Amino acid sequence: MRTPFIAGNWKMNTDSQSAVELAKAVAAGSVDIAGKAVDVAVIPPFVYLQSVGQAVAGSGVALGSQDVYTESKGAFTGEISTSMLKDVGCEYVLCGHSERRHVIGETNELVNKKLSTALAAGLLPIFCVGELIEQRQGDKTEQVVTEQIKKGLAGVSAEDMEKVTLAYEPVWAIGTGLTATPDQAQQVHAFIRKLISELYNEQLAEKTRIQYGGSAKPGNAAELMGQPDVDGLLVGGASLKAEDFIGIINAAG
Ligand code: PGA
Repeated sequence: MRTPFIAGNWKMNTDSQSAVELAKAVAAGSVDIAGKAVDVAVIPPFVYLQSVGQAVAGSGVALGSQDVYTESKGAFTGEISTSMLKDVGCEYVLCGHSERRHVIGETNELVNKKLSTALAAGLLPIFCVGELIEQRQGDKTEQVVTEQIKKGLAGVSAEDMEKVTLAYEPVWAIGTGLTATPDQAQQVHAFIRKLISELYNEQLAEKTRIQYGGSAKPGNAAELMGQPDVDGLLVGGASLKAEDFIGIINAAG
């Protein structure tokens, strides 16, 4: 059985006060379920990791980072290392989020380095993949996702793969209000699980959690989570309102 996993990616939102308030509200509102029936993580901007980590400490809500750099320390202006993330209590790290790929320009090779660095440090990657609208329209979804997964997981052992959560996030559904239908999500999730089975083995594929991301909200969470290969949600916009995010967590439970 795969424990459902709901993660809230706050992106470049909140401030020092609202971040802590949101974190406390999520922790309080999910006290009976987070870390038990459902794994839950909040993923604030770097500068609020520490205060948000303190706000959720002792609750079932885990802390995640939106990114990480590939070097351990030194002259890398603006970057954040795995040890810094662990120092402030991070367990999870997003690797290859579509905004990192398509806005900042991260390649599959860089995503692979970040994911490998995170694993080597004992952080748990949430590895994001997904196609652009023109790729879906051109019937290239499986091809794009296959390339992202093969390149992103290059050199990752089966043992390490057990620590990876995948997130399928069709880029056209992120922040647009357009959600993949449960059928569309299920199709790609099943495809990804089959690919993991081919790259590793069936047992590992069965254990691997695959989140869906892209305009997930309380109103569609249960239906998406009802799909056999959808094991959780990576939530952007709806994770910024405690009530909505808690609604999604409850729907997953
Ligand atoms: P969204 O973002 O829920 O606002 O579409 C999802 C994501 O980018 O992880």
